Amino acid sequence: MANPKHEFAAAAERRTVLTEPLVVLPAWPPVVADKREFVRFTRLHRTLHACMIVSFLTLALTGMSLKFSYTGWAVRLARILGGFETAGFIHRTAAVVMFGTFFTHIATLIRDKRRNHLTWRSILFGPSTLLPTRRDAQELAGTMKWFLGLGPRPHYGRWTYWEKFDYFAVFWGIVVIGSTGLTLWFPVFFTRFLPGAFINVATIIHSDEALLATGFIFTVHFFNTHLRPEKFPMDTTIFTGHMPVAELRRDKPREYAALVADGTLEEHLEEPQPEIVIKAFRVFAWTALGIGFSVVVWIIYAMIFAYR
Ligand code: HEM
Repeated sequence: MANPKHEFAAAAERRTVLTEPLVVLPAWPPVVADKREFVRFTRLHRTLHACMIVSFLTLALTGMSLKFSYTGWAVRLARILGGFETAGFIHRTAAVVMFGTFFTHIATLIRDKRRNHLTWRSILFGPSTLLPTRRDAQELAGTMKWFLGLGPRPHYGRWTYWEKFDYFAVFWGIVVIGSTGLTLWFPVFFTRFLPGAFINVATIIHSDEALLATGFIFTVHFFNTHLRPEKFPMDTTIFTGHMPVAELRRDKPREYAALVADGTLEEHLEEPQPEIVIKAFRVFAWTALGIGFSVVVWIIYAMIFAYR
């Protein structure tokens, strides 16, 4: 009978070879016997991302039902939620959760900086920076070449250029959608120092930026994270926090090589989550994907057949 450990190693090797050019990467011998996985996200990261999912889905569902209130699906959705007025109340409540998530993330960055005695310079310009760098531009160009079969797949590090883009899309989105949303929420306060016409402008910006954000997250972000051939049909890393070492080696070879080189890979390994926990995360993630894709279909329908 075939040895399952060897089959696993062979499968991991095949997956690596499929997407990776033949490059010299330090081998990871324990992968055959060791079930431990690489810890990519802490519990706090995962909790904040889950809060972001719940608040964003709620904001998108309630917001789109207000925006497209003249369509049948929006009326039905609003009825399920308790009417348009209640949908507006749920929208504001979810906005508070999103603001809370955003400011907790900022507070965590400051806390980690102090705790680890880091400088802003090392955070913003170090090897694990989330800021776009010249290397990201090179990897973007390299990826386009790879798509066309004209070169090898770039050796991505901890954050790929598309992950950085997604991260800053949320930053930008929260600033624009959040500030205009607050203007719509407290018009009397804001028109004490802004012209009244700004409320109309804020409505247009809020509404259109929301449409852009919803379209982007439920298509590009979903595709990049879950529907790419290497990840299809679901990448559970952001939910479990873990990724198999073979996957780290294949998807983030530069980070893998650095961890092996400085001998710290071991420190980042943990036993996998229990199967029941992974199943629960999958149900949550599939529900979120299902809602997101449905919203995209509803929006396309409303834009083509019912737009006013
Ligand atoms: C994060 C902070 C946010 C705040 C404070 C906020 C606040 C508001 C407020 C007060 C309204 C007016 C609705 C009413 O009066 O009942 C509104 C409308 C709306 N919001 Fe938000 N919102 C936020 C985020 C979002 C997000 C993330 C989305 C979508 C992804 C979104 C989509 C919409 C849409 C589509 C409308 C309807 C606009 C229209 O009538 O065309 N909002 N929002």
